Amino acid sequence: MEIFKHIAPLKAFLKDKQKQGKSVGLVPTMGALHPGHLALVRASKEQNQVTVSSIYINPTQFNNPADLEKYPRTFDKDADLLTKVGCDAVFYPENNEMYQQKSLVKFDFSHLDKVMEGQFRPGHFSGVALVVSKLFHIVNPDQAYFGQKDFQQFAIIRQLVTELKFDINLHCIPTLRESDGLAMSSRNLRLNPEERNRATIFYKALILAKQKLTGGTSVPETKTLIRKMVDQEIKTSLEYIELADSINLNTLDNVSDGNRPILCIAGYVGEVRLIDNMYLD
Ligand code: PAJ
Repeated sequence: MEIFKHIAPLKAFLKDKQKQGKSVGLVPTMGALHPGHLALVRASKEQNQVTVSSIYINPTQFNNPADLEKYPRTFDKDADLLTKVGCDAVFYPENNEMYQQKSLVKFDFSHLDKVMEGQFRPGHFSGVALVVSKLFHIVNPDQAYFGQKDFQQFAIIRQLVTELKFDINLHCIPTLRESDGLAMSSRNLRLNPEERNRATIFYKALILAKQKLTGGTSVPETKTLIRKMVDQEIKTSLEYIELADSINLNTLDNVSDGNRPILCIAGYVGEVRLIDNMYLD
């Protein structure tokens, strides 16, 4: 696998492949790779002749400096994993390669980045859209792969691609989970063993909320029940649970409203913030 720290040689490598008529798939990540990330790489490999992954902890999407500082950094292990799954190239830039100067550009996605994550992570999606736009321009992929785990992020990138006319097919890959249901996440590495056990609460909450909603309990009642369930446990707290329209992200007060409703949840175990989601159907 080729490792590129700079844009120019990566572009030269890709130009050569594209000249040969090879299709390129891009898998953007922030590293600390786990099987969920590798599922995206595998999907890209099935559908493209060349797969590029990026590993870049993008500072502009972190609204909490401690979260940025504590984000796990495991490049050597990540490079091994990517080599094993047959990724062709990894882009691993330093901050000065991605942001030569203080960034002034901001994105505003109207209500898409105001609800759910947007309420608790101001500026986060602007930073995501900025770095993903840069990666799309640098790599110029035919297809790009993202996870359903970050559902709101996917909806925002879909809007970005449509509005800015990026000629890229987007794919949303289902969430890979640990055997007890916990959604795989790089942040799980920061949980101590006790917190790791408690972290399944969000998955359990989604299952219970889905049962309640499909059984006829109202959305507000279900939300109150889930808040009690999470907040009464030691060391866990809920930020939000919402039922949302999976296309326009409008939050719903009724299960029969909206397009293919999805339950989205976020909260803390100790100091680690986790998110998860589940379609109602
Ligand atoms: P990161 O959190 O590293 O995730 C990279 C990609 O892997 C995202 O598309 C995410 O949704 C997907 N992913 C994470 N956990 C997953 C799981 N358990 N199953 C399936 N896919 C999973 O998301 C980011 O990085 C960044 O915001 C990024 C898009 C790279 C921009 O900086």
